[in-house]
Amino acid sequence: MNAKRLSRFLPPFLFAILMQFVAFFTLTHAAVAPTGDHLALLAIKSMIKVDPQGVMTSWNHSVTNFCQWQGVTCGSRHHRVFILDLSSSGLVGTLSPSVGNLSFLRIFVLSNNSFSGEIPPETGRLFRLQVLHLNNNSFTGNIPATIMNCSNLEFLILGYNNLVGKIPDGIGLLRKLEIVFLQKNILEGGIPPIISNLTLLETLYLGNCQLGGSIPDVFQRLTNLRTIAVHDNNLTGTIPPSFYNCSSLELVFLDHNQLKGRLHENLGLKLPHLQVET
Ligand SMILES: *[C@@H]1O[C@H](CO)[C@@H](O)[C@H](O)[C@H]1NC(C)=O
Ligand SMILES: *[C@@H]1O[C@H](CO)[C@@H](O)[C@H](O)[C@H]1NC(C)=O
Ligand SMILES: *[C@@H]1O[C@H](CO)[C@@H](O)[C@H](O)[C@H]1NC(C)=O
Ligand SMILES: *[C@@H]1O[C@H](CO)[C@@H](O)[C@H](O)[C@H]1NC(C)=O
Ligand SMILES: *[C@@H]1O[C@H](CO)[C@@H](O)[C@H](O)[C@H]1NC(C)=O
Ligand SMILES: *[C@@H]1O[C@H](CO)[C@@H](O)[C@H](O)[C@H]1NC(C)=O
Ligand SMILES: *[C@@H]1O[C@H](CO)[C@@H](O)[C@H](O)[C@H]1NC(C)=O
Ligand SMILES: *[C@@H]1O[C@H](CO)[C@@H](O)[C@H](O)[C@H]1NC(C)=O
Repeated sequence: MNAKRLSRFLPPFLFAILMQFVAFFTLTHAAVAPTGDHLALLAIKSMIKVDPQGVMTSWNHSVTNFCQWQGVTCGSRHHRVFILDLSSSGLVGTLSPSVGNLSFLRIFVLSNNSFSGEIPPETGRLFRLQVLHLNNNSFTGNIPATIMNCSNLEFLILGYNNLVGKIPDGIGLLRKLEIVFLQKNILEGGIPPIISNLTLLETLYLGNCQLGGSIPDVFQRLTNLRTIAVHDNNLTGTIPPSFYNCSSLELVFLDHNQLKGRLHENLGLKLPHLQVET
């Protein structure tokens, strides 16, 4: 029986109440039906081969509210994943490209696991992402160039992996970056001069990355930089002049390179907050 015919048999007020009930039921039902996020999380689970701590036991079809799955936090207003944190869980597997479907994701942490394979280029679709923390896994391949589309990124933490290739120039577009941690990868090329655009940068860890070339003279605009670690690379040349103007610097690690010359004599005067100098 359709709504029009039904309305003939019921007094108008009762019909109105009935229709509201139907609308309410439809809405409630829609909220628990599988959504894009639900499917994306199941796809992520399907690529995880070993789960020694059983953290993904709660990730199953019988539990329709994925917001209650371990490691998943949803926003209070939308039924969408805001945080996905599976750190230090002993997980072995690869990262599903479906992660790019979690379009409300802000914080994504997989550190201290054994994920291998590439960081899916689809990660670049997460335009709300603020924290990408994949430290200490076995990710291979390049740092995806698509990451330049994550324009809200504040923490880019990809250290202790097996990433290769250059640091993409697109990193210069990530104007909100505060922490860049790429330490211990197998990169090539040098420190991209475009980092001069990252004026909010506080921490730059590029140690043990097999980087070559000279340290670019880009410190003029990096007025928030407190820590720079570029030790254990193949950097050549001298310490650039603008480095001595970077008065916010507190920690500096330059050792184990082929840098020429010595640090400025009055370094303490020029960089008043400096604690460690190597
Ligand atoms: C992810 O989104 C793409 C494009 O919208 C779609 O084709 C795909 O089926 C989605 N994957 C999952 C697991 O939901
Ligand atoms: C599904 O999740 C529920 C709730 O966490 C759990 O009790 C149950 O064992 C899970 N089922 C499977 C097959 O893992
Ligand atoms: C990497 O993760 C393993 C396992 O959680 C941990 O034992 C190790 O200390 C971590 N290493 C780093 C550099 O974080
Ligand atoms: C990763 O492991 C290291 C060493 O055990 C620990 O210090 C760090 O807090 C862990 N990181 C995360 C995000 O769990
Ligand atoms: C970034 O996003 C734009 C618009 O969505 C798209 O056209 C472009 O291909 C993306 N760039 C990369 C490198 O993925
Ligand atoms: C870097 O900043 C300069 C000056 O603000 C701007 O002209 C240039 O387009 C920026 N480049 C990138 C890749 O963000
Ligand atoms: C420096 O370069 C040489 C020759 O290319 C290479 O053998 C060595 O491993 C590099 N050292 C570092 C710390 O990257
Ligand atoms: C350092 O700062 C001073 C004062 O702001 C400026 O005159 C000078 O040109 C700067 N030097 C370098 C190398 O950036």
